[in-house]
Amino acid sequence: MNLTQKKDRIKLFKADQELPYHLLLLADETIEAIDKYIHDSEIYIYERDQKTIGIYACQLLDGESLEIKNIAVSEEYQGEGIGQKLLSHAISNATKRGFKNLMIGTSNAAFQQLYIYQKMGFRFHKVLKDFFTDNYKKEIVENGLVLNDMLLLKKDLQVEEVEVLQQS
Ligand code: ACO
Repeated sequence: MNLTQKKDRIKLFKADQELPYHLLLLADETIEAIDKYIHDSEIYIYERDQKTIGIYACQLLDGESLEIKNIAVSEEYQGEGIGQKLLSHAISNATKRGFKNLMIGTSNAAFQQLYIYQKMGFRFHKVLKDFFTDNYKKEIVENGLVLNDMLLLKKDLQVEEVEVLQQS
């Protein structure tokens, strides 16, 4: 075995473990906001050599849809493809379980996120106007823009996709 080889895996987060807020806070502004969805979300973590370096949390919307409420990769590991692996995992997991679509929301200023989500097959679905100005006490600026609208993207799930994602 190559001793320098890294051991990566995505696994279900156990309810008795301490929530890694330091990661969740990369994707959301406050613990208060995270606490609104995290306790009834299914959470998966990305581990490298047993260290948690990525996370995503999915919430059930109805019998047909799930929403990824939070996805984050530790800053020092961003840009390696881990975010896309987490999205692939969420897509194939939701597809295998018979969900018809997967949603994900982000801000008007989140250019990188909008790029990755579209690259992974998500399409624009809805604009929640003034979501950030209405729901957060302080003004938030990202990429030089004030966050105002939430863009909700949706991916229709098809069974054949599971096989493609599992091979990649
Ligand atoms: N603009 C456009 N694309 C960019 C930019 C940029 N400024 N910077 C990097 N990219 C591209 C890269 O080239 C790469 O694309 P490629 O594979 O085609 O070359 C892609 O973005 C990065 O892909 P990954 O490496 O798979 O992504 P990463 O592991 O960094 O994870 C994530 C992405 C989760 C968004 C991570 O950067 C992160 O944790 N960011 C902070 C938290 C966050 O914003 N989370 C999402 C909030 S929305 C929500 O949680 C529902």
